[in-house]
Amino acid sequence: MLEVNQLTKTFGTKTAVDSVSFKVERPIMIGIIGRSGAGKSTLLRMLNRLSDASEGTITYDGKDVTSRTGAAKRSWQSECAMIFQQFNLVPRMDVVSNVLHGTLNSRSTLATMFNLYPQSDIHKAIEILDRLGIAQQAAQRAEALSGGQQQRVAIARALMQDPQIILADEPIASLDPMNAQIVMEALRTIHEEDGRTVIANLHTLDTARRYCDRVIGMRDGRVVFDGTPEQLTTGAARDIYGADASFSEESTSTSIETLDTAAARAIREAEAVV
Ligand SMILES: Nc1ncnc2c1ncn2[C@@H]1O[C@H](COP(=O)(O)OP(=O)(O)OP(=O)(O)O)[C@@H](O)[C@H]1O
Ligand SMILES: [Mg+2]
Repeated sequence: MLEVNQLTKTFGTKTAVDSVSFKVERPIMIGIIGRSGAGKSTLLRMLNRLSDASEGTITYDGKDVTSRTGAAKRSWQSECAMIFQQFNLVPRMDVVSNVLHGTLNSRSTLATMFNLYPQSDIHKAIEILDRLGIAQQAAQRAEALSGGQQQRVAIARALMQDPQIILADEPIASLDPMNAQIVMEALRTIHEEDGRTVIANLHTLDTARRYCDRVIGMRDGRVVFDGTPEQLTTGAARDIYGADASFSEESTSTSIETLDTAAARAIREAEAVV
C-alpha cells in the first residue's frame, strides 16, 4: 500500500534524509528510532507532504503522492493525519472544537468562517473522545487539560479525518511515563481495532520494542535497521545510536517498564497486606 522509494531531503549542503526506501504492505505499527538529527522528523514531514522531497517518490496504492498539489495533496494529507510532540491544539478553544478542526480539509470556506459544523460531526467528535476516555473534558478549554489528555485530543482530531495512516512525531516526548503509556496504548488500540497504520518517531528503544511490530532505525539520514523488535538486539541498537561509550539502554528509555515494575510492586504489596 505505502511505498517509499529513495526518498531524499537536502537543506543546502546537508542531507537530512538520504535515499530512504521501505514498503508497508499491510496495516502495521512502525517505530522510527535514531538519535537527535538522524532525520526522523524530516522523513515524517515528507510522508505527509508538509515538506517536499528533494528526490525520490512516495506512492500509495500504486498512485504517486510526491507530486500532488492543491486538492489532491490535501486529500493525501487527510489520508495520513499527523500528530506532534507539542500537540498543536488551539489552547483557548474548547476540546470539541479542537477535534472538529480535524474536518477542516473537507469543509467549505464559509462553514469554516462561521464555525459551522454538521450535527453528525459533533456526534462523531464526542464518540471519538469517549473512546479515548476524555469525553468528560469535551467542553473544557484545551489548555486546562493535562499533557496526556491534550495528546489524546490531538489523536481524536486526527481520527476525525478517518485516516488510513497516522504519523506521530515524538508523540510522548513531552509526557511523564504514565501518560506516555496511555497515549502509546491509545495508538496501539487504534491500529489493532481500526486497522490503521501507525508510524511513530520515538526517541526511546523500549517504547519502540514494546508497542511496535516493526522498527526502522535511522542514522545520519539513512535507514540502518529495519526489522522486528526481536531482531533489535543491543548490538543493532548500538549501530543505530552510535557505538560510543555513552550508549546504554537506560539512556534511551522512557521508563514505561520501570513504571510497570513499580505498579506491579505496589499491587504485590497491597495483596500482601490483605
Ligand atoms: N528546515 C531545516 N533547515 C535546515 N536544516 C534542517 C531543517 N530541518 C532539519 N534540518 C537538519 O536535518 C537533520 C535532520 O533533522 P530532523 O529534525 O529530521 O532530525 P530528528 O531525527 O527528527 O531529530 P530529533 O530527534 O532531534 O527530533 C538535522 O541535521 C537538522 O539540523
Ligand atoms: Mg524530530
